[in-house]
Amino acid sequence: MHLLITGGAGFIGSHISPLALEQGHRVTVVDNLSQGLRENIPQGARFVYGDILRPQSWAPKVGPVDVVIHLAAQISVPASESDPLEDLRLNTEGTLRMLLTAKDLGARQFRMASSAAVYGDESCLPLKEDGPVRPIAFYGWSKYTAERYVFHFAELEGLEAIVFRLANVYGPRQRTEGEGGVIAVFCEALAQNRFPIIHGDGSQTRDFVYAKDVARAFLHRLASPGPATVYNISTETRTSVRELFSMLARVAGKRQDAFRSAPSRPGDIHDSVLSRQKAKNWGFTAETPLADGLALTWKYFLDRESEA
Ligand SMILES: NC(=O)c1ccc[n+]([C@@H]2O[C@H](COP(=O)([O-])OP(=O)(O)OC[C@H]3O[C@@H](n4cnc5c(N)ncnc54)[C@H](O)[C@@H]3O)[C@@H](O)[C@H]2O)c1
Repeated sequence: MHLLITGGAGFIGSHISPLALEQGHRVTVVDNLSQGLRENIPQGARFVYGDILRPQSWAPKVGPVDVVIHLAAQISVPASESDPLEDLRLNTEGTLRMLLTAKDLGARQFRMASSAAVYGDESCLPLKEDGPVRPIAFYGWSKYTAERYVFHFAELEGLEAIVFRLANVYGPRQRTEGEGGVIAVFCEALAQNRFPIIHGDGSQTRDFVYAKDVARAFLHRLASPGPATVYNISTETRTSVRELFSMLARVAGKRQDAFRSAPSRPGDIHDSVLSRQKAKNWGFTAETPLADGLALTWKYFLDRESEA
């Protein structure tokens, strides 16, 4: 199949493209390199420079595609709060433009990266796809609104659509800012022999999912996707930030107290864990244990530091 991956030069895209090529698909990446890197696009994938808000300038170069995997987005929660209009443009208008482009390019399937942020500070854990949606930041709203556009468009046009609500994704090539970057932030600090900061008492919990597992989800059942729907992609495992630091310190051979404390950040969700049952019923399970994923991520940051 010919896959068009928007935002494919970014962190998650850098895990999807190589796997898609390995599975025998043809890959075209479109990215404006605002956050992504050219070196994140593997050999064998075609790169088309372009902005999702201006597809008329690049879509004619892409040719017919079978599947659009839509990752390009504004991913920072604080940035969505300081510039909600730009967040809306990139995440909601950008998604609608990619739906229209998918139709123009003859795509049969559309798969979009959404986020656990759509659930907000919901206390009924683990969060389920059919549970309440109450974003507490514009980012959650722009992603949720984009989800609704995807399903409306899919119904109108007969497009097979899947929305993935991703938990906290981590792995090699993650940048140290943006959503879910705590593991990248810790790894970078430890690799540079700095003490990372733990906000609050570190008891806040997250559901960490390894980027390769997320890549497998995006490519799962391309031949027979099933009805348009939304899946959480998660491990359904709660890990506190303090536990996470301990695991990483062990992997990295650092002292257990090699961190600094700072006050908790206002607006931070205390606990987040996503049910994985619906994805399991679809035949998908994130299988990388946190200890293994952490070891691979630590190695990446350590190697990067020693090459710098
Ligand atoms: N990383 C996480 O933990 C996480 C969690 C939940 C959801 N997500 C979602 O997954 C997707 C990918 O996230 P990521 O972590 O790989 O982010 P990333 O910033 O590394 O990748 C996004 C890519 O989109 C590109 N891009 C941004 N604006 C663009 C535009 N106007 N036109 C073309 N390209 C543009 C950037 O250059 C970048 O390469 C996003 O939609 C994000 O909201 C990520």
